[in-house]
Amino acid sequence: MNAEICELTKNNIDSDAIKRAGEIIKNGGLVVFPTETVYGLGGDGLNPLSSKKIYAAKGRPSDNPLIVHISDIKDIDKIAVDIPKTFYVLAEEFWPGPLTMILKASDNVPRETTGGLDTVAVRFPSHPIAKAFIEAAGSYIAAPSANLSGRPSPTKSSHVIEDLSDRVDMILTCDDIEIGLESTIVDLTAEKPMILRPGFITKEMLEEVLGEVQVDPTLMDANCTARPKAPGMRYRHYAPKGDMILYKGSVQWVKEEIVKATNKAIGEGHKCGIMTAHEDYDYYRDNLPFDEEKLVIVDLGSISNMEAIASNVYKALRYFDTVKADIISSEYFDRHGLGEAVMNRLLKAAGHHIIEEVL
Ligand code: TXA
Ligand code: MG
Repeated sequence: MNAEICELTKNNIDSDAIKRAGEIIKNGGLVVFPTETVYGLGGDGLNPLSSKKIYAAKGRPSDNPLIVHISDIKDIDKIAVDIPKTFYVLAEEFWPGPLTMILKASDNVPRETTGGLDTVAVRFPSHPIAKAFIEAAGSYIAAPSANLSGRPSPTKSSHVIEDLSDRVDMILTCDDIEIGLESTIVDLTAEKPMILRPGFITKEMLEEVLGEVQVDPTLMDANCTARPKAPGMRYRHYAPKGDMILYKGSVQWVKEEIVKATNKAIGEGHKCGIMTAHEDYDYYRDNLPFDEEKLVIVDLGSISNMEAIASNVYKALRYFDTVKADIISSEYFDRHGLGEAVMNRLLKAAGHHIIEEVL
């Protein structure tokens, strides 16, 4: 299969291309589409064969459920049952947008889509191309992130084309992807709402409208032996091909340690990568060899702009693969607010390998 690739922009949504994409879904095919978080790999969420195809295309274990994307809040009653009041409160505040809610699934949703669970993850994306595409399909779109299983989620068309162009029917591109990290997932089926995956909608934002919100205890603690409630959070994820290490401590200590470790690794013949906040970029540039064959340094953005850092994380991880970096050092960022989502992804990418300052 060689995918038809259509370049769209938010202001120029080619209606013929959207119509063709909708037809492909109706015929049980697969279409990659942009959302405000990351690209999605879409199929008909109500067609069990389409969901099976998604798992096969992505190389994903079939017990890891898919998110069902809708384009109108009224559709919720066709997908979910026993919907709690908290759902409507959150939908009112954050939909359309980067929030996925877990509800009890209705019988309309095939268990192939929910990975065998009797709950379903639902999201109403705000990206206008996603909305037009879902409407054209005349169904609900089951979609995981459009990466091969285990790789960083795609935030640029080149990422999707690299991973999936021979595995899907069509790719709708639009590199205007604002957020760059997957949606926040909140489970509304337990007594208290619980965050299963941190994202752009932070715990603080959810608590402002709901009061206390719990966090799946397995999320940030590498030593926690319980099973994460979102099956997908079990797998090694978001990982670049090289070994990644996070450095945690005072700013000066982190910079000096990364320089020391990088110099040593370069001396041993490794290709190195560094992920840094903008504020520290010049320090690395000034204290390490300027040789792209040996070292690439990625400036993620200013420490005072976590949105920028979040939007650059996956691009950076993919870039390290492109340049074949085999040792990657990254600064550890403050986990407040959106920093929680950023660090969740970086900790997973690094397999929780942290070198910490001893005080
Ligand atoms: O931003 C996003 O959420 C993107 C875009 C395309 O919408 N989608 C995405 O899907 O990140 P995916 O499949 O890569 O991640 C979905 C996560 C997985 O960790 C999965 O285990 C979890 O959601 N999930 C799905 N259904 C669930 C359920 N019923 N209960 C618990 N976790 C669920
Ligand atoms: Mg994913």
